[in-house]
Amino acid sequence: MIGHILHINHVCKNFGGNVAVSDISFSVDEKQIFGLIGPNGAGKTTLFNCITGFYPVTSGTIIFDNKKINNLRPDQVCHLGMARTWQRVKPLGSLTVLENVMIGAFSVTNVTREAEEIAIEQLASVGLSDYAAKFAGSLPIGLKKKLELARVLATRPKMLLLDEICGGLNHTETDGILTIIREVRNKGATIVFIEHDMKAVTSICDSIVVLNSGEKLAEGRPEEITKNPEVIAAYLGGGQNAND
Ligand SMILES: Nc1ncnc2c1ncn2[C@@H]1O[C@H](COP(=O)(O)OP(=O)(O)O)[C@@H](O)[C@H]1O
Ligand SMILES: [Mg+2]
Repeated sequence: MIGHILHINHVCKNFGGNVAVSDISFSVDEKQIFGLIGPNGAGKTTLFNCITGFYPVTSGTIIFDNKKINNLRPDQVCHLGMARTWQRVKPLGSLTVLENVMIGAFSVTNVTREAEEIAIEQLASVGLSDYAAKFAGSLPIGLKKKLELARVLATRPKMLLLDEICGGLNHTETDGILTIIREVRNKGATIVFIEHDMKAVTSICDSIVVLNSGEKLAEGRPEEITKNPEVIAAYLGGGQNAND
């Protein structure tokens, strides 16, 4: 039976007087690819930071895998099986690609040889085996994004939160990342995906929530979201749906 793995219940996050996330509620099913979209400043990254323990919520609760997680530290959330990527990828440039992925693996083992085995396996799964010995800082952005995926996969997550993992990539690179994401889901993980490229979002997501100015504007299947007049006005308006 597939059930919910993540519940966001009335979550608010204020920065002083600035309400970045306002009374957001939604649930994510196990093994879903779930899209979180909305214009810049909508509160998407802030919500990720709340879910993954980087920011305390102002109010509301976050339940992951039947546990309340909104007072936990990022490392504790990671140990429960949740991993996130960063909008601005920041590998440790003076370490090798393999070493960067081993850092992820050290969250599931203390044994160096095991961490190396996990890292080798995850580098293969994202197509970076040939780059294992290169310095991470030398990789172009498309490969840095794959490295970021391999690093979080090495933590063996039940759930991955991907913050604009396709940002700055061309179509071919984006398709490569989407293929990896589908494979990861097919192996049993759940994915929450922040992305601006609507074609990518609608092609891969089972379900989508749209944020606008910190509020939930809409929720539904991709075909419902792309037809929703409020979503079109707030987000898709700028020429992406030229018919409207
Ligand atoms: N650390 C912070 N301190 C103050 N304001 C912040 C902080 N992080 C985000 N914000 C504000 O929260 C709002 C939402 O930002 P963000 O979550 O980054 O949006 P998105 O990821 O959807 O583009 C913005 O108004 C932003 O300025
Ligand atoms: Mg963001």
